[in-house]
Amino acid sequence: MALPKDVNQMKPDDAAKELARLAKEIAVHDRAYYQADEPKISDAAYDYLRQRNHEIEQLFPDLVRADSPSNKLGSKPAAKFGKVAHKVPMLSLSNVFDDEDVGDFVRRVRKFLDIAGKQKLEFTAEPKIDGLSAGIRYENGKLVQAATRGDGQSGEDVTKNIMTIIDVPKTLSGTDWPEILEVRGEVYLPISQFEQMNALRAAQDQPEYKNPRNAAAGSLRQLDPAITAKRPLRFFAYAWGEVSAPLAKSQFGAIAKLKDWGFSTNDLTTICETAEQMIAVYRQIERQRSQLDYDIDGVVYKVNSLELQARLGFVSRSPRWATAHKFPPEQAVTLLQDIEIQVGRTGALTPVAKLKPITVGGVVVSNASLHNEDELKRKDVRVGDRVLIQRAGDVIPQVVKVMDAGRIDRSDPFVFPTICPCPLKTAVVREVDEKGEAGAISRCSGGAACPYQRVESLKYFVSRTGFDIEGLGAKQIEAFFEQGIITEPSHIFLLATRLDPDELAKAEGWGKTSVANLFAAIAEVKEVGFDRFLTALGIRHIGQSNARILAHHFGSWDEFSKIINSWAASEELLSIDGIGVAAANSVIDYFTEPHSRAVVARLLEQVTVRAVEKPKNDSNVSGLIVVFTGKLEKMSRDEAKVMATSLGAKVSGSVSKKTDILIAGPGAGSKLKKATELGVKVISEDEWLEMTKVS
Ligand code: IVH
Repeated sequence: MALPKDVNQMKPDDAAKELARLAKEIAVHDRAYYQADEPKISDAAYDYLRQRNHEIEQLFPDLVRADSPSNKLGSKPAAKFGKVAHKVPMLSLSNVFDDEDVGDFVRRVRKFLDIAGKQKLEFTAEPKIDGLSAGIRYENGKLVQAATRGDGQSGEDVTKNIMTIIDVPKTLSGTDWPEILEVRGEVYLPISQFEQMNALRAAQDQPEYKNPRNAAAGSLRQLDPAITAKRPLRFFAYAWGEVSAPLAKSQFGAIAKLKDWGFSTNDLTTICETAEQMIAVYRQIERQRSQLDYDIDGVVYKVNSLELQARLGFVSRSPRWATAHKFPPEQAVTLLQDIEIQVGRTGALTPVAKLKPITVGGVVVSNASLHNEDELKRKDVRVGDRVLIQRAGDVIPQVVKVMDAGRIDRSDPFVFPTICPCPLKTAVVREVDEKGEAGAISRCSGGAACPYQRVESLKYFVSRTGFDIEGLGAKQIEAFFEQGIITEPSHIFLLATRLDPDELAKAEGWGKTSVANLFAAIAEVKEVGFDRFLTALGIRHIGQSNARILAHHFGSWDEFSKIINSWAASEELLSIDGIGVAAANSVIDYFTEPHSRAVVARLLEQVTVRAVEKPKNDSNVSGLIVVFTGKLEKMSRDEAKVMATSLGAKVSGSVSKKTDILIAGPGAGSKLKKATELGVKVISEDEWLEMTKVS
């Protein structure tokens, strides 16, 4: 039976059917228009379809589809991407660089799991795609949200853009998918498309993209999804985040499922049983690399059993069950024209090689790091030398060695400055470490008074790791700093009182919209998480990871500042798992130094620091001091320790009066005796497992 033409006459059933039909039809026309550039109907006819879809959605808001055309093309671009907190953090991978490292990785995994050499252990080996990772969430088989990796904890909401990718299903095929499924993988731009796109950009006098990865990033992060739709991005699924039910028993099985449900998966993925087989697959993929229509930068090895993956868990920011075997970096030879000294945020002086520009792995390189004074001396790099440089991924290119060191007409060795090039001209100091040895880093002794350090700190403060203020990047900070408008973080939040917004709108590179966007971006970060706040201050040794540890330990800024200003500061900081002496001292130095105290106090007048939730540790063994002794039969000592720690227990190496539990296996000796003497509770491995079972 034909559906009523008048939307007001429609019943929910009719509406659902019509919305499904419209979604399909509009998608066909979108593809024809945006991807093939060959519209099949007139603009008016197309607008009519969209209008009808819109009207039905207004009347039946409950029936709006995840793949609704209103969410996709042609819709008004958003002013800024929303933030999405990842339910399961999006972590990165550890790296291995040579064959020996692969063997070590396999041995480490076996040791942790206590699996003997003869027992079978499978790994998968697959290409490491050089794109951008994204997480795509499905609820009841429908795509509901997609986000970039961001800082691993939260990313940007790119749902509409991801929906334009042809190999991302809007609705899952099959039926056996879990109700909640977050698929993770890599968004990339095929090399052939990248070349076409750059040729077009060159013809239109637009700047070309450096490489497919940057082009993919630029394309995905378009505020107007219609632009993304014109860039033929693709997606490989290789992992998952939150799932309401397990996908399979193995990595390989789970990937096969993702394929069944409509995703593109990489068919070079191979199951291996030994390090030798893994290396053979690596070589094979390396040989195929130039034939592939996508950039890869290595091979990823993953433990195949998902049960074993869960047991292995994570260390710091990456899984113990996977690693990336990177391809060797790309190299080239060029002329070193000069050596410049740059002063960083913490005052470190870094020698930088100014090079005759050269293309390395598709990217034009004109600067390379020479790291520090010792490294510079060791390599004996001099102005006028021909040097071998290399770049791997997004890291700063490095000078590997001098090619013509035997030349007789070389210039004199570079003399490392003893006076900082900053306007203060302070002395350069080499720090002495705990063992009394000179550290590698030379530092400007000007501290917070040094304008070079201050401007670098400000750049870090606004960067993605810091407050993440869109529209306020390194270039803008430099300009504002030079004009004295922003010379410390609090000034950012007082910007409207420190400059005339109308004047700024007239300045080069600005405009009314950019100024409005900047003020909106600043207003948005006036309330900030405690961990982000601590990171942004740029205290030495307190990067993202340590800041998070501190934030979780103290919970709120008030709690933190109470302790940090008390005599117990040092003891408390050192008692925190993961915080070492250098980090603890650095925090104390920072908060006792009058200038930084004043800077923080003024900043706190402008921003609100949100408390972070302390991780819940309500397990049976939380807070207990436990000791393992004798042979464990169900797991390795390492695994047992990691598990106990993750449940909030403290693992100690020796038995004392303070010990709460001794877990004793066969062969237990002196520790068991001592525990019995001291009346410490002694249990078996099985009893321990029973006690710690998560229900
Ligand atoms: S698995 C828990 N598999 O590499 C980590 N990652 O350096 C799970 N990547 O952020 C990641 N190809 O963006 C995995 N086949 C692959 C990959 C891959 C590329 C990226 C991913 C990740 C980064 C880690």
